[in-house]
Amino acid sequence: MQRLSGRKVSFCTILCSLFISFICVNHFYPTMRISGNINKIVYNSVTEKAVEKYFTVSTISKDTFVSFNGPVSHNTGKHISILSPKDVPRLTNQELRQIKRSGTSSPIVVRKYKLIFFWNEKAGCTYWKRLLQFIQGLKNKDVHDPGRNGLTYLTQCKDNEIIDMMFNDTWTKVVFVREPRERVLSAFLEKGLNPARMRDMCGRPAVKSLLEFITLIKTCKDVHWSSQVKLPRHLYKYTWIGKMPDINTFTENLLTKIGAWGATVKDYLHSKEQFERTRPHATSASEKLLQYYNDTKSQDIIFKMYADDYDVFKFDKKYFN
Ligand SMILES: *[C@@H]1O[C@H](CO)[C@@H](O)[C@H](O)[C@H]1NC(C)=O
Ligand SMILES: *[C@@H]1O[C@H](CO)[C@@H](O)[C@H](O)[C@H]1NC(C)=O
Repeated sequence: MQRLSGRKVSFCTILCSLFISFICVNHFYPTMRISGNINKIVYNSVTEKAVEKYFTVSTISKDTFVSFNGPVSHNTGKHISILSPKDVPRLTNQELRQIKRSGTSSPIVVRKYKLIFFWNEKAGCTYWKRLLQFIQGLKNKDVHDPGRNGLTYLTQCKDNEIIDMMFNDTWTKVVFVREPRERVLSAFLEKGLNPARMRDMCGRPAVKSLLEFITLIKTCKDVHWSSQVKLPRHLYKYTWIGKMPDINTFTENLLTKIGAWGATVKDYLHSKEQFERTRPHATSASEKLLQYYNDTKSQDIIFKMYADDYDVFKFDKKYFN
């Protein structure tokens, strides 16, 4: 009798532990699959063609751009909506932190137009922030201070809201980037040669040459010259990538897509004030490229330092000469 109930108890224990492990596996399964299977889902839901278009968005015509919003987005949406809840992509806490970034460098959210703008320092960021203020009717004078510019940042959103935004194609995700050699040169001219900025940023006197600056930034880290690849790599499949030389057509295509294009914004973009604000950023550095990159050495260093940027954003590694 004693032995029998002992057996009964251990049988019950086995049953219970089986049941508990079943529950655990089911509960943690979605988390477990993040690391392994997420890429598969991303690839399944977005066709290779669409991925290519994400990367070439800056060079395609307006017509292609618009049709991309049509059938392909629709397609993506359909794929996502037939996934069971278990298959809905998630983000790890580390990925979320990486997406949100901190304080002043967090991406900008425009709820009115369902837009997340992943901006980069020294890649037309003043232009974009002013434009994002303008389309929301914000009159704030301050552009860069998150406490005073009136803009909404991703750090202000809840984690589950961010996941929805990232994987729901009714939200437009945009990354705007600049060719690394051009961006580094612009940083050199604006910060590297400026004794006060160099003291603040790197605790040293101004540099004397571009090559000296390139060597310095290997050790002196700053957002103005850090890599523009800031998102977890797999998420670039959901983003539109705009590049500096196409800033005008990209602006029109983007605002058209989100429904913010019109006479008012056109007037604003053509206003003398706006033109003068953005022109130095858009062109003065690129005019100097040939002058400053007159050998292959500094360009080779940059190709290596910014290998991720060249890879993810498909910049051309052709020498300037
Ligand atoms: C995407 O967002 C829209 C609007 O909020 C919603 O109706 C739709 O169900 C969402 N799609 C998915 C797949 O969550
Ligand atoms: C390259 O440019 C630098 C800086 O403008 C200049 O000092 C140097 O003499 C130039 N070298 C050649 C080979 O033109």
